[in-house]
Amino acid sequence: MIPHVRALECIRRMCGGSQSKLMRCSDGELYVVKFQNNPQGIRILANEVIAALLASILRLPVGQTAIVDVHRDLIRFTDKMIIEYPECRVPCRAGLCFGSLCETPPPFYRAVYDFLPEELFANVANVSDLPGILVFDKWTSNMDNRQLVFVPTDDQAGPYRQYRAVMVDNGHCFNGTKWNFPDAMRWGIYFQRSAYKTVNGLESMEPWLERLAAARLEDVLNRALEEIPSEWYRCNRKALCRLFAKLDTRRKCVGDLLIQTRRAYPELFPAWPLRSYSHVGARHGVEPRRIRSRALASRSVPPDPKRQASGGGAVIGADQLDALSYAHVVGRILHPLRDEQTGHDQVSVPRERVVSQAAPTGGPNQVTTLDAALKLASN
Ligand SMILES: Nc1ncnc2c1ncn2[C@@H]1O[C@H](COP(=O)(O)OP(=O)(O)O)[C@@H](O)[C@H]1O
Ligand SMILES: [Mg+2]
Repeated sequence: MIPHVRALECIRRMCGGSQSKLMRCSDGELYVVKFQNNPQGIRILANEVIAALLASILRLPVGQTAIVDVHRDLIRFTDKMIIEYPECRVPCRAGLCFGSLCETPPPFYRAVYDFLPEELFANVANVSDLPGILVFDKWTSNMDNRQLVFVPTDDQAGPYRQYRAVMVDNGHCFNGTKWNFPDAMRWGIYFQRSAYKTVNGLESMEPWLERLAAARLEDVLNRALEEIPSEWYRCNRKALCRLFAKLDTRRKCVGDLLIQTRRAYPELFPAWPLRSYSHVGARHGVEPRRIRSRALASRSVPPDPKRQASGGGAVIGADQLDALSYAHVVGRILHPLRDEQTGHDQVSVPRERVVSQAAPTGGPNQVTTLDAALKLASN
């Protein structure tokens, strides 16, 4: 069950196009909170939760999510709680918001990092998860650069410090608010030279491809229908069911998409030889002769100008990979909580329970198969 918490204090605005805020919540934890009226669209809140559910069935290191109830008085009395559009500034919308549990919990408030320079990348303990995350991003058509935060796991001095990578910012999975799957090779990649350097074929991604093939998506759909606030997808249960049906069908294409990505970005996969046949590929529906033609064409898919304007991922050529990792200041993104209190801790927020309607098959609130979900969607 996704935890529900109440927001108590807004600490600061975070970087990024959704203009999220770092908030202290009723369970004593810090969350990066995205609001319903964020500039990227309301559906990205649903995307974050769906992506987290899907990533966890593939056993990928996704951050813990929560549904954060933000009371209108907290917004009214906090200057920072605004969303800036090009033409105006509006208050954040009160109500149920998406929260990503901050990876530096109190009382230590250690720094976490958005980027690590190339030489520190070897200190990331779970760097072996990156190929699995690529499987996930190709499957879900994440139309953004893969974003990770790096959490220090010990207190050693600079070059010896160890890190753990956590997946964040999954709002542009399923092509953001569009809920379709454009298959652009350019997106969903973590652009760092050593990210995929040990990948030597689809065999390196086999554990995740196997989990993907075996995943029971109907269980995830049921959780999504029950636990995601329905206003995040404008109560359009049919669209949600259709999304899962597409995800189900797309499982077969993922091996193919990975090979196309390898062909489009050979510099990112130095250990992956081009072969016409792979046992893993054969098991996951790859047809060798279909691959070649589409790969290079799709490398140059233009970025979505709207998303770029809102601060989404910039276009980075492979030749700029090193520049990217060094240019970004490896900076502290969290500050210790200030002592001052907002005075809103006692605000009691009416809990809006999200109750899903009964599906026609499989008992109350449950769909037992994706076929049933599709029937529900077409009713
Ligand atoms: N779980 C988390 N723990 C720590 N920092 C986070 C977490 N989630 C997001 N952040 C930080 O907040 C920033 C904004 O979050 P992100 O999900 O990338 O939003 P946006 O869609 O606006 O880019 C990230 O760049 C990262 O620095
Ligand atoms: Mg981001």
